[in-house]
Amino acid sequence: MGKIKRIGVLTSGGDAPGMNAAIRGVTRTALYYGMEVVGIRYGYHGMIHKDFVDMKANSVSNILARGGTILKTARSKEFMEAEGRKLAYENLKEAGIDAVVVIGGDGSLTGARVFCDEYYDIPFVGIPGTIDNDIYGTDYTIGYDTALNTVVEAVDKIRDTAGSHNRLFFIEVMGRDAGFIALSSGIACGAEAILIPEAHGQISNLKEYLHKDFKRNKSSNIIIVAEGDESGGAFAIAENVKDDFKDFDVRVSILGHIQRGGTPSAHDRVTAGKLGFAAVEALMDDQKSVMVGYHNNEIDQVPFRKVIKHQKNVDPEQLQMVEILSY
Ligand code: F6P
Repeated sequence: MGKIKRIGVLTSGGDAPGMNAAIRGVTRTALYYGMEVVGIRYGYHGMIHKDFVDMKANSVSNILARGGTILKTARSKEFMEAEGRKLAYENLKEAGIDAVVVIGGDGSLTGARVFCDEYYDIPFVGIPGTIDNDIYGTDYTIGYDTALNTVVEAVDKIRDTAGSHNRLFFIEVMGRDAGFIALSSGIACGAEAILIPEAHGQISNLKEYLHKDFKRNKSSNIIIVAEGDESGGAFAIAENVKDDFKDFDVRVSILGHIQRGGTPSAHDRVTAGKLGFAAVEALMDDQKSVMVGYHNNEIDQVPFRKVIKHQKNVDPEQLQMVEILSY
């Protein structure tokens, strides 16, 4: 057996469907290879407050189909401070945890990187978990596929009623900093336009588009707005547009946290299981400060340094494509 004897696993930041499959993947793989596994509850908060629980093979039984995370999650302000990280390190040492797998988004992996730069002797490996799909170095993040399917189902339903009343709908989806959910759901649902944080000045294009007569002849118009869009979200845009288009029957729908819940899709479960397995293998191969992710359908390891430094870009051409497809 290698030198790692006891692995800690935690989920951090916003929960995402499929995180449980990742916890299971890490736990069962580590146990199989003779290591002990400790669940760290509430993410970094639990590391600082010693919220540790021993994980056996049956601790992760029957969780594949469950949304959320059995280990709970949090966004820890204390871990952002050097003092909090020092306490976390001391607690890991005291509990005999000699490696950690972090399942979470950008903020969680940033925390892992900062910790590993300060304390060299406890390797961390990351698994990308967020519905936003906004992590550099991986094509998929755990939870994105499920969230996307939830959005598609909701927008399809709104399209039914929008078409029956000839209405213009602004539908707000999650994505504080990123427009991946908005863009992909827009393509999948035939949205007439999409507004995302990565693009600027879209509101004038939108108005121009709404002015075109043939578009008015459509029985419904659906505009998908990512919550982090510069115009201030779906309500703000609807107000703005209403003044210029008084004859439009406008409605707003905010999908909210239903996007984060629900039974994980098959794709998310498979991704999560494989990444959980790969994270433990990476630690056994003496890797540290890396995220395991997907690139061109292969599992890859990307240094935290790169993950944090770079932003994953949306392809701006796709915005125009959406309008063409809804012509
Ligand atoms: O997990 C990412 C995310 O879903 C963002 O898209 C969203 O802005 C945020 O979390 C919402 O977080 P909270 O649940 O804390 O309101």
